Amino acid sequence: MASDSNSTPSHTKAWFYTEHGDPSQVLKLHPSWPIPELEPDQLLIKVVAASLNPVDYKRMLDWFPKTDPLKPTVPGFDVAGVVVKVGSEVKKFKVGDEVYGDINEEGISNLKTLGTLSEYTVAEERLLAHKPPFLSFVEAASIPAAIETAYEGLERTQFSSSKSILVLGGAGGVGNYVVQLAKHVYGASKIAASASTQKQELLKELGVDLPIDYTKTNFEDLPDKFDVVYDTVGDVGALKAVKEGGKVVTIIPPGFEPAIVFVLTSKGSILEKLEPLPNEIAELCLVHLSYPYHASACSVSSSWNRAITVGFSKPVESMPWLGVPAKTNSPQEDVNSAKSDVFDSDSPTG
Ligand SMILES: NC(=O)c1ccc[n+]([C@@H]2O[C@H](COP(=O)([O-])OP(=O)(O)OC[C@H]3O[C@@H](n4cnc5c(N)ncnc54)[C@H](OP(=O)(O)O)[C@@H]3O)[C@@H](O)[C@H]2O)c1
Repeated sequence: MASDSNSTPSHTKAWFYTEHGDPSQVLKLHPSWPIPELEPDQLLIKVVAASLNPVDYKRMLDWFPKTDPLKPTVPGFDVAGVVVKVGSEVKKFKVGDEVYGDINEEGISNLKTLGTLSEYTVAEERLLAHKPPFLSFVEAASIPAAIETAYEGLERTQFSSSKSILVLGGAGGVGNYVVQLAKHVYGASKIAASASTQKQELLKELGVDLPIDYTKTNFEDLPDKFDVVYDTVGDVGALKAVKEGGKVVTIIPPGFEPAIVFVLTSKGSILEKLEPLPNEIAELCLVHLSYPYHASACSVSSSWNRAITVGFSKPVESMPWLGVPAKTNSPQEDVNSAKSDVFDSDSPTG
């Protein structure tokens, strides 16, 4: 890989596309994508793990023609990695720090052409946080866009303790964090959430009081009404489940009046809330014993950390939109195996 005079790389291996279409058809490996010069507030990150969100396939399929015109693009919003170079005005981070974040501040506009599906990527200091030591790089990369969206939506509804909430899509990437933040950070009085039949147990594990199987029950017909309805699926029926004077928030544009609709503004400061507070460790070890990730969770603290007990780092095989067949010798397998080659490195600078 070519390097500049300070022996940091000037080019990177990266997955990219030059035309819109099915990710399994348009993604190709670039052996030497140029890394842009760092702005004063930017960092160069050696990617250890990256995760893909629905916005990545929507972008690849040309869902945002007005705000994201076609350019050769390396996809990927979420990253966890190691800082290899800092801009002249960066204050919070230094070379060698482990960081994570969503590198696109505006969600669907001003998107970077060098994303995180790359060996190196670039991001502004304000979009990043220190990776908590209790999270692996893979766990950390699975979190940023989803938990930041969950939090921004709850804040926009001015959610607070003793309020009830219905989460449509409660087992999804965003929805699971809405449920867990509502429970552990805000102290919701009652949480209902919808998901398919096979995810009902997961809803219970997450702390949902009223799990709803959307294949069998129409939430609009339930007698329960809620202070807040958080819609992650784009269902106008949300308006029928809210109490008078309550609030509906949807993350599916264009939304529906009078629901609040928004596109995430990425902020590293949200992720910094996951830093450990040592004096609460013992209490949380008890809390977390029933959770799948209790071993790592026992080394964490703060109520925010209770909200990441069930991680959502999905294997590539569980992302049907990537077009990954289970066990065939399709070209996509080559893509995936090459991706592993790019990312399977524990070495911070390797
Ligand atoms: N506005 C923003 O800033 C913003 C930010 C992040 C995401 N988003 C958008 O929000 C959506 C969700 O994102 P995500 O990352 O959470 O996606 P995800 O991980 O794929 O989750 C979507 C969930 O929706 C559930 N679902 C599908 N149909 C449903 C229905 N009729 N009722 C209830 N649940 C249903 C699925 O559950 P089952 O598998 O059980 O069916 C799945 O778990 C995507 O469209 C994404 O693009 C917007």
